[in-house]
Amino acid sequence: MNVRCGTDIVDVSRFVKKIEDGNQSFINKCFTESEIEYCNSTKDLNRKAEHYAARYAAKEAVGKALGTGLMSEGVGMHDIEVVNDGRGTPGVKLTGGALDHAKALGMSSISISLSHDGGVAIAYCVMLVEK
Ligand SMILES: CC(C)(COP(=O)(O)OP(=O)(O)OC[C@H]1O[C@@H](n2cnc3c(N)ncnc32)[C@H](O)[C@@H]1OP(=O)(O)O)[C@@H](O)C(=O)NCCC(=O)NCCS
Repeated sequence: MNVRCGTDIVDVSRFVKKIEDGNQSFINKCFTESEIEYCNSTKDLNRKAEHYAARYAAKEAVGKALGTGLMSEGVGMHDIEVVNDGRGTPGVKLTGGALDHAKALGMSSISISLSHDGGVAIAYCVMLVEK
């Protein structure tokens, strides 16, 4: 059993600007419907941007843990989806190219943690793999 990890940090103001500009095509390209629903569940612009930035960081962190990065080797933005349970704890659902790479690594477990404060959002990913 091996451990793989990945991390990423994102400037929240990037997402404030995307939202203010009404750049919905960027949002749709990066995030799934349920991620968008979660991020838009608050009316507060900065909170909204923090949720988006944290999810963007999570996708990058998972891409790093997979070893593929994001938008490369068949791993698309929607293939890595952040899901929150009833307590708010984030988890990750892999599909498509991301799932294929995870299976090739013999992944048995994946976990993420998110945080946002002071204008930045960070994400950390840990996965257990056979290879
Ligand atoms: C969950 C908690 C640790 C978050 O800490 P925080 O400093 O407020 O916020 P951070 O920016 O560091 O983290 C926010 C992220 O934590 C994650 N999170 C939320 N609840 C979580 C939980 N139960 N377990 C793990 N992660 C959690 C989420 O991913 C959230 O980001 P998202 O909403 O964009 O998905 C904190 O709110 C807490 O302890 N809550 C439960 C108890 C409570 O509500 N107490 C009242 C405090 S006054």
